[in-house]
Amino acid sequence: MRVILLGAPGAGKGTQAQLIMEKFGIPQISTGDMLRAAVKAGTPLGLQAKDIMASGGLVSDDLIIALVKERITAADCANGFLFDGFPRTIPQAEALQEAGVHIDHVIEIDVADEEIVARLSGRRVHEASGRIYHVIHNAPRREGLDDVTGEPLVQRPDDSEATVRKRLGVYHEQTKPLVNFYQSMATAGDKNAPRYTRIDGVGSVDAIRQQLLTVLG
Ligand code: AP5
Ligand code: ZN
Repeated sequence: MRVILLGAPGAGKGTQAQLIMEKFGIPQISTGDMLRAAVKAGTPLGLQAKDIMASGGLVSDDLIIALVKERITAADCANGFLFDGFPRTIPQAEALQEAGVHIDHVIEIDVADEEIVARLSGRRVHEASGRIYHVIHNAPRREGLDDVTGEPLVQRPDDSEATVRKRLGVYHEQTKPLVNFYQSMATAGDKNAPRYTRIDGVGSVDAIRQQLLTVLG
């Protein structure tokens, strides 16, 4: 099964992807996580991406497309995968199509902008594993510490309010058009079109997860 999770920054893509991945045994492919790992390791890709990510802009389509094309050839993708944060521009979606990658489901997690700002200011992450918390809505058992390793949690550098607003602007301008892109594929009767579902992303993490599981069957 091949799934795209579409949604604004902070909509809960990463949180839900981690749960779905465990349930269906398919890997989460988060281009954001891959880029953060590259930044941390100081690779050429990381050096190119670092300032762009910190400013809330998008890394170039060519770099992202090459990264994803290579990732999906790995052995763990044989039974499918879950894209989190990819595609996020029309050229990225077209590149997937041109490569003949069939997608079963596109699921949009819909959350209003004002809720996003509150969510991201309270987000804390465990850098090594990518586990995601929120100081109120999804709090770790011990304040500031990862549940599994006990290591300290950190804030992402792009979660400042000004950068979040910039990321939201970029989302509306460059990523939101994907809603039409995928919906019009379906209405044009394209038999390869993925099934498109929008779910309300406001509610408990568990309630959203249930909605996703219903869609995925
Ligand atoms: P990326 O890492 O993909 O960031 P994003 O899309 O901005 O999404 P986030 O990770 O911020 O949010 P999320 O939806 O995963 O929410 P989460 O589950 O963490 O990308 C980062 C950067 O990399 C981009 O800005 C860009 O520069 C670059 N990049 C990445 N991919 C790219 C691409 N394809 N092309 C070009 N550039 C690319 O949840 C957020 C918070 O809310 C957490 O605290 C969580 O605990 C909490 N929460 C989750 N669910 C709920 C709920 N139901 N109720 C209350 N709180 C909740
Ligand atoms: Zn994420």
